[in-house]
Amino acid sequence: MRVGQINQRAVNWHQESGGVQWIEQRWLPHRFGQVVSLDPEEVAIAIETMQVRGAPTIGATAAYGLALAWKVDRGRFFNFWLPRFRSTRPTAVNLFHACDAMQFCAEENPALKHMIDFADAYAEAEVSANKRIGEIMAGLLAVGERRILTHCNAGWLAAVDWGTATSGIYHLAHAGEKPFVWVDETRPRLQGARLTAWELNQEGVDCRIQADGAAAWMMAQGKVDAIVVGADRVAANGDVANKIGTYGLSLAAREHGIPMYVAAPTSTFDVGCPTGFDIPIEQRDDNEVLHVDGVDVFGQLQEVSIAASGVSANNPAFDVTPFANVTAIINESGLWKP
Ligand code: MRU
Repeated sequence: MRVGQINQRAVNWHQESGGVQWIEQRWLPHRFGQVVSLDPEEVAIAIETMQVRGAPTIGATAAYGLALAWKVDRGRFFNFWLPRFRSTRPTAVNLFHACDAMQFCAEENPALKHMIDFADAYAEAEVSANKRIGEIMAGLLAVGERRILTHCNAGWLAAVDWGTATSGIYHLAHAGEKPFVWVDETRPRLQGARLTAWELNQEGVDCRIQADGAAAWMMAQGKVDAIVVGADRVAANGDVANKIGTYGLSLAAREHGIPMYVAAPTSTFDVGCPTGFDIPIEQRDDNEVLHVDGVDVFGQLQEVSIAASGVSANNPAFDVTPFANVTAIINESGLWKP
């Protein structure tokens, strides 16, 4: 998708250096920059520290990172690098699918070029799934549902390209339609305010950032036509793990008769996970709740504390929305209903 007039991807293989290149998402929206690394440990750290994030982007980054590990440290690929990448984040199942795929590839055809091509194909498959999801979603939303509420960033930064939840919005905008998006800021890391609003802006889509607590009130006033979110893992029964706050949105949507769509490519499905209760939910550092960072009037990045010192916090990164609260999962194969 566009940054200025240039098309970018969240992560890719960097041909010139033979390493992995990603957009440093922690710098956005204040600064756009890319990092290139020739060290698989730096790629693993990029996932852990959320320089790259969002389920499909995490999977693609792991695929590229493992291709790099194959290049620079093949002897430790199976016993060290596969477990290292698998341990970076627990909830998004795309990570584990990507690691399984790269393991399979290394066992089947150990040529380096094949590993890099395979990682590229993995990322490309995400992009085409998300593109297809967007075509389906655009058809759905074109029928009067244009004031869309989204949570977190399920945009192209989170999904290599197009995004999952945003893909239909971008398809509508490219077709000359005028979708409007309520962007939940998404405490504590503010992926909505920092990333989704920035993405939509780059594509010229009208949007407004709102506090997470405003969402139910906008629904109550009839100002939301549909909710579209992404997913980090869909259990076999259709329960959906996504960014903390999604479950609450689903309750308010049900109360107000608003459709709640989950956009999720097949790489986000976990058929080995029977229900949402079996999905591991990442618990992140208290500091993410107790501090905020941003740019001051001099353009300097500052971090400030927002709570009394010594107070501790609770920081579950995801929650589970029961399938009964989901109107439909929009997948590249079509609509899946409970
Ligand atoms: O913690 P994050 O920022 O990786 O969480 C991201 C989300 O919850 C997204 O909604 C999800 O990964 C869908 S991405 C297309």
